[in-house]
Amino acid sequence: MDTSVTNVVAEFDEDVFVPVERLSAGLVVDSDLFADNQKLISKGTVLSQSIISNLTSRGIEQLKVRRGSSLARLGIMPESAEDRFAALLVDTGRIYEKHDLSMVIPQEKLESASHQIETFFCDLELGQSVDLTKMRGTVDGLIREFTKNPNGAVKLLDLEHFDRYTYRHSINVGLLFLLNVADWVDDEDELAEMVYGAVMHDIGKSRVDLSILNKPGPLDREEWEIMKMHPVWSSELLEDTAISDTGMRIARAHHEKLDGSGYPDGRNASQIDKFVRLSTICDVYDAITTKRSYKNKMNFAKAIEIIIQGCGPQFDPKIANMFIRKVGQYPIGTFVRLSDGRVGVVTSVNEAAITRPVVSIVLDQQLKETDSPEELDLSELPGIRIVGVVAGRTEETTDRPRANS
Ligand SMILES: [Fe+2]
Ligand SMILES: [Fe+2]
Repeated sequence: MDTSVTNVVAEFDEDVFVPVERLSAGLVVDSDLFADNQKLISKGTVLSQSIISNLTSRGIEQLKVRRGSSLARLGIMPESAEDRFAALLVDTGRIYEKHDLSMVIPQEKLESASHQIETFFCDLELGQSVDLTKMRGTVDGLIREFTKNPNGAVKLLDLEHFDRYTYRHSINVGLLFLLNVADWVDDEDELAEMVYGAVMHDIGKSRVDLSILNKPGPLDREEWEIMKMHPVWSSELLEDTAISDTGMRIARAHHEKLDGSGYPDGRNASQIDKFVRLSTICDVYDAITTKRSYKNKMNFAKAIEIIIQGCGPQFDPKIANMFIRKVGQYPIGTFVRLSDGRVGVVTSVNEAAITRPVVSIVLDQQLKETDSPEELDLSELPGIRIVGVVAGRTEETTDRPRANS
């Protein structure tokens, strides 16, 4: 072991609490952090620059981080398998780059998009006036970036800091929507309008009290009535942004169900167009696969199972079928463990075999990083299968998403 490694190990062996000013993007948080009786960050969160800024502005002085992630940040491979997985998760940008996985939208762009949405939400929550024209301009810029690459990573690594859920959820729903709708619409402006509606669909949640939004248990009747207002508030807020009719319908109707049991208007199938039907599926898929304050994260397979079960009364079967074929059981950018012990990242989905995507191997059987990319088309390799997803803690639970996704 060379001296630099020894120093780093010693540094983090002694004390894994790192002063906030020394934190850097990519480190993994090792224990939940509470402030004012509210969970601020969950164990397992991968730090971004905006989270670190948020911690600084809240006066947080130090944070416990995973030792393995600290080593990974410095380009040193940790010894234990668990730490290597942690390293993989904090270093996705480098791994995408190393393996020339250019189909994946860079993490920084998503972080920046998420941060901008967060700023709008926070200003609205604080009752500050928000320049809606500026908001529109910002989101449009992001959409243009995304539309260049509709097959980009539609479901990025799970962010476990649920307090930021809504912001990232907005981006994820926009990306999932874009991936599916790109074939339906030729006109770029029209496409941008729709994706804008999908990104901003939950902006009305900025009027819902955080104690309701992040409540760990079920909502009581009164709280639920407030929560059910968020699509109405979304459409009210978007009215001033010259959004198209379709974009507006997505914001207003993304919780409507084909059998008329949805909210806020109880629309029936004849009143729910195909774009809204698609947005509903994107919304539910992202809600299921993301950890929230009131449920553990569920895996992609479970999400697909729930969408299939909801076909008919809730979801349009044809659109659900298209969504599942496009997104696959393992969306592009997902890190997967293979039955032969290797770890790969999904680079494309086989529409005819959604459980068998094409993967690029990033860790070998000894869980050491591979030097050159090796692509495996699992649809042609029946002897190798995916045995798990390497994104964060992926324990599967059976709890269903709360209806107010
Ligand atoms: Fe919603
Ligand atoms: Fe949503």
